[in-house]
Amino acid sequence: MKLNYIVFSPTGGTKRAADLFLKNWKEEQNVIDLTERRRDFSGAVFSADDICLAAVPSYGGRVPEAAVRRLAAMKGNGARVILMVVYGNRAYEDTMLELYDTLAEAGFVPAAGVAAVAEHSIMRQFASGRPDQADEKELEEYGIIVREKLEECRLDRTDVPGNKPYRSFGGVPMKPEAGKSCSKCGVCAVSCPVGAIPENEPNKTDKKICISCMRCVGICPNRARKVNKLVLTMGAKTLKKACSTRKKNELHISE
Ligand SMILES: Cc1cc2nc3c(=O)[nH]c(=O)nc-3n(C[C@H](O)[C@H](O)[C@H](O)COP(=O)(O)O)c2cc1C
Repeated sequence: MKLNYIVFSPTGGTKRAADLFLKNWKEEQNVIDLTERRRDFSGAVFSADDICLAAVPSYGGRVPEAAVRRLAAMKGNGARVILMVVYGNRAYEDTMLELYDTLAEAGFVPAAGVAAVAEHSIMRQFASGRPDQADEKELEEYGIIVREKLEECRLDRTDVPGNKPYRSFGGVPMKPEAGKSCSKCGVCAVSCPVGAIPENEPNKTDKKICISCMRCVGICPNRARKVNKLVLTMGAKTLKKACSTRKKNELHISE
């Protein structure tokens, strides 16, 4: 059996958490990277024998819109899917429910849900260093439980936290911009999940398209891409209270 590992992870936190969950799984992995903006995801067609893991970060308590569109283009045809939502120690609100609904609508059968905490990709002082050793142990355990019970595992919609209508999220005002040290190498433009950086002018950002995922900030070889410091400080102040107590990983499963 192959495991279809479907992941949207602009800065790697979601993938780190999903890798820990899968640590003891022996199956060969077919990785489907949802950040590949030029890929035609309607070619991802599964069958009832398939098992999938769909891992996404929470953005404003929702599934990132680009990930929703790409997942919705796939054809589940009864494939079982484990839902994984990764969040930066504030809250994930309706993210798992939206992921459930999106995949169920695309013909997948949700089997289990996992919520995991990873370093906040915009304000790295929140959940700094997570997933840490304790998370590692917990996520590995979740992976073992789900793998062992995979045949009977299922997830009822009523067991998934969240509400519909989903929380409204119109993005955040933190849009990275290139500074003087930008060499226009174009690495950021090529890997931007939504094409917000023109390939012929990689020192620009189309703020209307940018989803603030911070991939360009993380991969710039010259560390030239940054978010305005003042905006970042104000954002951190607003989130401080909500993000400071340690939040838990969760396993949602119904038998
Ligand atoms: C635009 C944006 C919105 C976010 N919103 C939330 C949120 O509502 N709650 C939360 O706990 N973390 C939030 N985060 C943090 C991410 O969910 C978290 O850092 C995640 O690990 C990022 O995934 P990645 O490293 O795979 O890109 C947000 C991050 C971004 C970039």
